[in-house]
Amino acid sequence: MTAVEPRELLELAVDVAGEAGLLAAEGQAKVAVLDTKSSPTDVVTEMDRATEELIRTRLLAARPGDAVLGEEGGAATGSSDVRWVVDPIDGTVNYLYGRAEWAVSIAAEVAGEVVAGVVAAPVRGEQYTAVRGGGAYRDGVPLRAAPAVPLEFALVATGFGYGARRRAHQAEVLRTVLPRVRDIRRAGAAALDLCALAAGQVNAYYERGLNPWDWGAAALIAQEAGSRVGGLHGAPPNPGLTIAAPPGLFEELHDLLAPLGADGDG
Ligand code: IPD
Ligand code: CA
Ligand code: CA
Ligand code: CA
Repeated sequence: MTAVEPRELLELAVDVAGEAGLLAAEGQAKVAVLDTKSSPTDVVTEMDRATEELIRTRLLAARPGDAVLGEEGGAATGSSDVRWVVDPIDGTVNYLYGRAEWAVSIAAEVAGEVVAGVVAAPVRGEQYTAVRGGGAYRDGVPLRAAPAVPLEFALVATGFGYGARRRAHQAEVLRTVLPRVRDIRRAGAAALDLCALAAGQVNAYYERGLNPWDWGAAALIAQEAGSRVGGLHGAPPNPGLTIAAPPGLFEELHDLLAPLGADGDG
């Protein structure tokens, strides 16, 4: 079998994310809640499903042997060692409310490791990309995370996962974090939070309970821009606590969050 070239995977991901982004952007104005999932806050729209279906169909048309893992359940097992990890619309609540902060996220894993990823935010007109070892880019321009600052000077992005028990725990964590940092940002799309870190628009990011489709592409983008991405127990955990920041600040944030414990919701 010929080795897979990560840049070719990225090219395909970029094409498919572009097409998916157009479809989703066209559908945004008339979208409505279709269903709720784990809790009333955890909404899904017909466009989440339609966009994932388009992505899955296009990826498998180009590479029929690959596996696909998508948030909305469009899973396909494959015979190659490539798996695509797809969040068709990251930031569904923003999408539903006509806001711009949502993105299509597509990561390519080879033998279990993410090697390429794209996060496309069509309404913002931004496209973030990375290939492992090849740097991170926004619209073709190289990205560099901001250098580490002490925690008290850090603008920290976070997100609140779905579920009442988890939300209550996140509020408790925030009581500890907020007085210790410059400020908090909650943009509503984990992939774009990590891309903001890559672009130096925040100093750090943390969130509990992310899934691989939330961080797959964007964690690589943040790493390639110079950030460390990990959790309390090493690599990006699922479920667990994802922390992303430049070395130095990462450890400071880790030491603040580590004693605060898990929320019990997984
Ligand atoms: C959610 C968003 C949100 C984050 C949640 C995610 P979705 O993804 O990224 O910012 O706080 O943890 O589940 O459901 O909009 O794809
Ligand atoms: Ca969702
Ligand atoms: Ca998501
Ligand atoms: Ca989603």
